[in-house]
Amino acid sequence: MTALPMVMPEPCLPAQVTIYEVGPRDGLQNEKAQVPTEAKEAFVRRLLAAGLPVVEATSFVHPRWVPQLADAEELITRLGAVGRGLPVLVPNERGLDRALELGCEHVAIFGSATETFASKNLNRSLDEQFAMFEPTVRRARDAGLDVRAYVSMCFGDPWEGGVPIEQVVSVGRRLVDLGASQLSLGDTIGVGTPGHVRALVEACVAAGLGTDLLALHFHDTYGQALTNTMAGLRAGVTTYDASAGGLGGCPYARSATGNLATEDLVWMLTGLGIGHGVDLAALVATSVWMAGVLGRPSPSAVVRALAAAEAPA
Ligand code: HMG
Ligand code: MG
Repeated sequence: MTALPMVMPEPCLPAQVTIYEVGPRDGLQNEKAQVPTEAKEAFVRRLLAAGLPVVEATSFVHPRWVPQLADAEELITRLGAVGRGLPVLVPNERGLDRALELGCEHVAIFGSATETFASKNLNRSLDEQFAMFEPTVRRARDAGLDVRAYVSMCFGDPWEGGVPIEQVVSVGRRLVDLGASQLSLGDTIGVGTPGHVRALVEACVAAGLGTDLLALHFHDTYGQALTNTMAGLRAGVTTYDASAGGLGGCPYARSATGNLATEDLVWMLTGLGIGHGVDLAALVATSVWMAGVLGRPSPSAVVRALAAAEAPA
């Protein structure tokens, strides 16, 4: 029997959250080993079967920039109708064309709050990134697609240091004005702390970017992802990005390590009595299996604790 936390709700938190699973994309984009496409397909299917409502499948970026996801077409084709319903990353019109050709229904663009990361990750200046996104979002919306927008380096940047909150809000505003329906605020290198999360969410809300528009995307580099999630819950945000087993990182920000582990998030939400719809045992089994595919143990504390508890004495 899988252990579960005792349920002890805290007042004034959301009753339900949406977990936006990024393991197959953010998780696998940073792996040294090339994961076979059939293993990626099994990973996505197992995550969906575990009850995750949204699973970001892959990226239509330049295969030279992210070779780990060069099989995006093959993966979506193998997943069939299921694959077409899953969000995929597209940085530009070329990426959108590839997604449209396969019938994808949800895309995500990814912007940067800083000049340096825009250059490193997109080969564009901060302003030029919007010129790349504008026709991408317009054409996606005209084709009836839903568009999510990420903002990276919201809490700090390895080259520029601290990032002013107004700069993050301004980039987020511009992405929403282009037509994005959701803004995922990324702590790409995991340097954020709870007061900063609260201040950023409050500044977004004050600028008309309400919590219904926002998602939070934490990397756990400094062990702050769960406590930052708690700050997000207290500020009223109800969508959280997470990666099964805590896989993840960004190949263009070396200090980025794994995302908030989905299992760690599920454990905390369960204890708080917040609805999430995920079967923790099925999710842990999936991450244990993926750790075997990758040849290294999961960094998730909950995966390690539950896998040890299930192992024969
Ligand atoms: P570029 O070199 O400036 O591209 O790269 P370009 O527009 O000059 O085009 C050059 C060539 O690339 C052309 O081919 C294009 O067709 C081709 P040619 O005419 O020379 O034969 N091309 C493409 N081919 C396939 N798919 C495409 C594509 N685009 C152009 N989509 C580009 C610009 C944006 C393409 C490049 O910088 C890139 O691919 N960057 C992706 C980097 C990336 O994927 N990073 C990780 C994701 S972001 C992240 O992880 C953060 C996040 O998790 C949130 C957080 O944690 O903060 C989301
Ligand atoms: Mg990320």
